[in-house]
Amino acid sequence: MTVAHIQDISQYEGQNVTIRGWLHNRRSSGKIHFLMLRDGSGFMQAVMSKAAVGDEIFTRADHLGQETAVSVEGTVRADTRAPGGYELDVSGLEVVGPSADYPITPKEHGVDFLLDRRHLWIRAERQQAILRVRHEIIRGVRDYFDSRDFVLADTPIFTPSACEGTTTLFPVQYFEDTTAYLTQSGQLYNEANAMALGRVYSFGPTFRAEKSKTRRHLTEFWMVEPEVAYATLDDAIDLAEGLVVSVVERVLDRRARELKTLERDTSKLEKVKAPFPRISYDDAVKILHDKGMPFEWGGDFGGPDETAISDHFDRPVAVHRYPSAVKAFYMKPDPNRPEVALGVDVLAPEGYGEIIGGGQRLDDYDLLLQRIREHKLPQEAFEWYLDLRRFGSVPHSGFGMGIERVVSWVCGLEHVRETIPYPRMLYRLYP
Ligand code: 4AD
Ligand code: MG
Repeated sequence: MTVAHIQDISQYEGQNVTIRGWLHNRRSSGKIHFLMLRDGSGFMQAVMSKAAVGDEIFTRADHLGQETAVSVEGTVRADTRAPGGYELDVSGLEVVGPSADYPITPKEHGVDFLLDRRHLWIRAERQQAILRVRHEIIRGVRDYFDSRDFVLADTPIFTPSACEGTTTLFPVQYFEDTTAYLTQSGQLYNEANAMALGRVYSFGPTFRAEKSKTRRHLTEFWMVEPEVAYATLDDAIDLAEGLVVSVVERVLDRRARELKTLERDTSKLEKVKAPFPRISYDDAVKILHDKGMPFEWGGDFGGPDETAISDHFDRPVAVHRYPSAVKAFYMKPDPNRPEVALGVDVLAPEGYGEIIGGGQRLDDYDLLLQRIREHKLPQEAFEWYLDLRRFGSVPHSGFGMGIERVVSWVCGLEHVRETIPYPRMLYRLYP
């Protein structure tokens, strides 16, 4: 028995093969059953005639429930009308695992119904396409940094302190009398790693107790974070631009089929080329004012502001030099204008908002200590971080890119909840 994967089916034209998978759906025209099979690698139509399989199998096939696990034997035939270009002429069928009353039928379901059954929903063609694009993006990210000699150095998930503000920390009881927090970002450890290894990145899950119910926020999301010793803000923007361009190109190149399944307008993605426009926060505020939007200098941009700014451009835009007051404690002030920080956000086009946040880090011991105090952070927990400014401090920069935001944008989705197999949100911890 030759087991074939649907994605490779063109290699088996004219041959007798077995497909091991599930029955996605079926329809019948009396003497012929059309079985839509899926095997994880793709979808393919199998055509079963009574003449080829005999009465018993033919009758049994007419009662198979959606998602029945089946092993189907047949001959591969090229057919230009078939979705993947090939069909299977069935000669035998074996039921491996029955399925009755599968809850997700081809009719429309509400999103809460689907999210409650996320473990099954991921079998849908669209959801599979999204998860394949996600995998391609992750591979693209890794290749980008690995091919530039960055060292993947992992950072801890249990941490003693906040990186991105104390309001979104998830506390965890750590044995009897200690509270740990789930990491919000690997950045602080990446800075130490960069002082050891020069160019590093971390890539893992990060956590924010986000009480906001927006289409851009999860409480658990994956972030890739490069950090580079001796790099400036401009170096970090160059790196971010290169990363985004290379990841988008890779998905266009290798996941065209999935983007088609998702009905993504790829002409928009084809415009994602260097150089990205780079504008200051001040310029961004001007754009908002020119559009008649009320916005006061000094605040952080909300979702609608980001959309309005990015609508101005056909590719991602890097907005730099935000007011220090709205940014994290570790940001280096611009020496020429200390009220703004050498930070950058990259905003995706088409209203997807911030996909990258980062910048140049405060490398001065005294000022860092002052900031830790101003932000009312517990100094003892940051002694190790201050050590980096005690022992051979250098300028350094980096950023974090949220994978789900990028997947959402590249796939053209309404909400980040479909970009990860099991989304975690304010009101969702199941399944
Ligand atoms: O802008 P953020 O908060 O930056 C940091 O955490 C820095 N310490 C990173 C660094 O410089 N190493 O988060 C970075 C990115 C955002 O641009 C966004 O893409 C994503 O992480 N992100 C989220 N994605 C989904 N849900 C959330 N709640 C997110 N919060 C941030
Ligand atoms: Mg940010």
